[in-house]
Amino acid sequence: MKGKVVLYLCFLMFLVQCSMPKNDGGEQQVKELIGKMTLAEKAGQMTQLSIEMISAGETNKLLEPHALDTQKLHKMIVELGVGSILNVGGHTYTKAHWDEIMGAIHTYEKMSRLKVPVLYGIDAIHGANYTVGATLYPQQISLASSFNVDLVNKMSGYVANDVRESGIPWNFSPVLDVARNARWPRFWETFGEDPYLASEMGVAMVNGYQQTQANGKPMVAACLKHYIGYGDSRSGLDRTPAYIPERQLREIFLPPFERAIEAGAKTIMINSSEVNGEPVHASKFLLQTILRKELKFKGVTVTDWEDIKNLCDRHHVASTYKEAVALAINAGIDLAMVPLDVDFTKYLIENVEEGKIEEKVLNEAVYRILLLKMDLGLFDAEGTQKMVYDTLGSEKSRNLSYELATQSIVLLKNIDGILPLNANEKILVTGPNADYINALNGGWTHTWQGRDTSYNSDVISPLKALEQNLGKEKVRYLGGNTYTQHLPVPTLLAAAKDINTVVLFLGEDTYTEKPGDIYDLELEEAQQNLIRVFAQAGKKVVVVFLEGRPRTFSKTEPLCDAILFAGLPGDAGGKAIADLLIGNVNPSAKLPFSFPRDAAVHITYDCKYTELLDNNFKPSYKPLFAFGSGLSYTQFEYSNLEISKKELKTNDSVEISIAIKNSGSRAGTEVALVYSIDEVASITPSIRKLRAFERVTLEASESKTIKMKIPVSKLRFVDINNKWVLEPGKFKFEVSQLTDSINIQP
Ligand code: GLC
Repeated sequence: MKGKVVLYLCFLMFLVQCSMPKNDGGEQQVKELIGKMTLAEKAGQMTQLSIEMISAGETNKLLEPHALDTQKLHKMIVELGVGSILNVGGHTYTKAHWDEIMGAIHTYEKMSRLKVPVLYGIDAIHGANYTVGATLYPQQISLASSFNVDLVNKMSGYVANDVRESGIPWNFSPVLDVARNARWPRFWETFGEDPYLASEMGVAMVNGYQQTQANGKPMVAACLKHYIGYGDSRSGLDRTPAYIPERQLREIFLPPFERAIEAGAKTIMINSSEVNGEPVHASKFLLQTILRKELKFKGVTVTDWEDIKNLCDRHHVASTYKEAVALAINAGIDLAMVPLDVDFTKYLIENVEEGKIEEKVLNEAVYRILLLKMDLGLFDAEGTQKMVYDTLGSEKSRNLSYELATQSIVLLKNIDGILPLNANEKILVTGPNADYINALNGGWTHTWQGRDTSYNSDVISPLKALEQNLGKEKVRYLGGNTYTQHLPVPTLLAAAKDINTVVLFLGEDTYTEKPGDIYDLELEEAQQNLIRVFAQAGKKVVVVFLEGRPRTFSKTEPLCDAILFAGLPGDAGGKAIADLLIGNVNPSAKLPFSFPRDAAVHITYDCKYTELLDNNFKPSYKPLFAFGSGLSYTQFEYSNLEISKKELKTNDSVEISIAIKNSGSRAGTEVALVYSIDEVASITPSIRKLRAFERVTLEASESKTIKMKIPVSKLRFVDINNKWVLEPGKFKFEVSQLTDSINIQP
């Protein structure tokens, strides 16, 4: 008998050897481990459960304060052999509690037969939001407004430190969805509407998260999400169908994922929704043909929440949960974020036993999962030791959050230089978001929806920051957080008596995912009425938007004297807004999206020429505020746009130089945006495409000539055959309305 067992194991090892993608560093150890695993242990490794499944209390009514349940720990880690655990039980935890949780998990790991470490994952999309005391940074839509790739990379390193110090080696971030529909409730979780900007920011974030530690291991594994096409649902409602022809999929939505995979991203989370009628979780084309074969992604694919079960319950492409398991695993899913049942594991085993899934599919998935754990050092003794860094709640992280916030808040309008505010003049501050600090951070902040104020840290609101800056005697405040816009007009006017300038903090409450669905992008009428009432009373009206998406207000926009789009600027947003309003800081941010003029139509900056024609067929459309718009308290003049070589071949680079002068009276930073314009192409060309950007800081009266090199190959597009092509012909380059031309030779 013994001889037969040895023979079987050797045969199994041989099979494992043949079917495994090659990988350096630990693959032999992983193969040996797989060779020892039972089918049930492999299925356990492909199972990810939420922390509720090892916590005391009912799944949706956990014991408070949170505590683990030893029986559940034993059942899930020792008996089921769960591969990964995620999330919090409803709200943020102290670091001490994270230490308890991780200590318990590691203890039970060691009781399991093969002692395979459990991989813990968390959403830390703008800081370690589920660790008490961690600094929260601007959300991605605001980070993108800074166009500051280096600072985003630095921030991601700080976040990785805080996450790993909490004992967690996996961050479900960055979001690389390209947001092309402003109504979508996760618009603010993205880097905006441009694939190039999203790619640059995504790579910076991945490199920050996965920075190498002293032990040679990455700090945390990044997780690119949500692959793919999630940000372009036709309805703008979360998790609803997207219809994206392969051409557009490849040209607009794939590049950020492709670039981040090239940068070494270790995991990818899959889009819960469907593209062209196919749930992505069941798509061999998207998960294998494109992701594995074309993009050569070798890391771990993880589902989104309950999305295998949803193939049956929501998408109706499987008649049972068990059938859905076979569909998803055969399509290319490695790890199932189940996360609130143990049926997945059971159905996975049964599917293999019934021949619906080949065991080699599990071997490949488990190989990637175990190799990821190996890469992260979880098998090493120190891999599970508490990492201690110097960033959690540190002054340097708070300073970085403030610096990013000041560079992320966009000055969209400033009539007659009404801003900076006159520090000697009394102002009225009002509006629902003036003293509501939740509005600074949005969702994924101490709680999923970011609404429960009981977990907020000592963050200062814009109102309090203005009072600190100007003195309470200079700031009159009207109303609480939630009803100001419904106050009667006489009350509003009485509050503005003997005051010339009113600062309105408008926008949205916090939300994410489905709870944030809206059917109308228009800004709440009562909020727009605040603008009307004060403008019609002859007041100067300064509006500051704290919101996750550009709520339209073109009817009342003309009544505003100044407008700041603050987005979701993070913990330091209140102070940053006050410093920008008062002029302690000079704004430099630019919009990473087109601010729609009308609720019903969202035309992105890289639109087609026909989208510009008005009803007289004259090119006239323009958004309320264009992609890339953003003012400063100084002025910048561009001149001498030059392209060194006009006749170029496909393997050349376009060498652009342009002079920028700060012609104003104070130092400032300008973000120079370089667009290409393909004059004629076999696919209707966009009116422009962002190809490069650079932040330039200039003292008053200082000039600088900046030079940029753009490979001609970057001017390619996806043709009618869904292939990237570079077509010879004339191109223009545009920087701040200046243009120069080149010709690409065949
Ligand atoms: C959510 C989100 C995803 C998140 C995951 C785990 O449904 O779609 O972005 O990472 O579940 O919390």
